[in-house]
Amino acid sequence: MDGNGRWAAAKGLPRVMGHQAGVEALKTTLRLCSDWGISALTAYAFSTENWSRPGQEVNFLMTLFEQVLQKELHSLEREQVRIRFLGELEALPEVLQQRIQDSTERTAGNTGIHFNVCTNYGGRRELVRAAQRLARQAAEGLIVPEEIDENSLAAELFTTGEQDPDLLIRTSGEQRISNFLLWQLAYAEIHVTEVYWPDFNAITLKQALMDFQSRQRRFGGLDTRQS
Ligand code: IPE
Ligand code: MG
Repeated sequence: MDGNGRWAAAKGLPRVMGHQAGVEALKTTLRLCSDWGISALTAYAFSTENWSRPGQEVNFLMTLFEQVLQKELHSLEREQVRIRFLGELEALPEVLQQRIQDSTERTAGNTGIHFNVCTNYGGRRELVRAAQRLARQAAEGLIVPEEIDENSLAAELFTTGEQDPDLLIRTSGEQRISNFLLWQLAYAEIHVTEVYWPDFNAITLKQALMDFQSRQRRFGGLDTRQS
């Protein structure tokens, strides 16, 4: 979700108004994905690098996350959304951690869309953490290093149990991965749209899905229609 600040600046508004509008775009997108039968939506809300922003903006975002969670929990429960937060959650404000725990527990049994919110998330850190966890298991004699494979590494990532994303949508025209799901995006199709995140809606989501449908996915093999 990129371009909140630029969306606001273009309208002569303070950056934080862009974040507020971004929440509405996220709610719309989640509902559309759920209605259109998409099984999982993972949103990048706050990166490990975002702490370097001015304290006021960081505080605003933390309060916003907490308020939105509180306000939306009932709808999430009602609409069968299973919410999870991926990242180093220990570093988040205590109140937010509580809300995260509460909403995760209360929606854990839901049967609808998996909604993952990456919060204080960094792809490299996630991989380092996975390496540490495997090393600890090896040191304790629970596993032998030679047995470590892609499945056992993936199991130590925050996304454990989730399928790898099929499609990555990046808004605001940036053509970067920015430390997002480095392992999981190995074979994802990438769709870049110029729209700022707060303007993302049913039309732009449909464009992304049509773009995805037009791709030939070979996963390193050959096109089965050739030969
Ligand atoms: C994305 O919008 C939202 C967060 C990172 C929380 P930005 O805040 O990055 O907006 P721009 O890139 O400055 O336009
Ligand atoms: Mg940005």
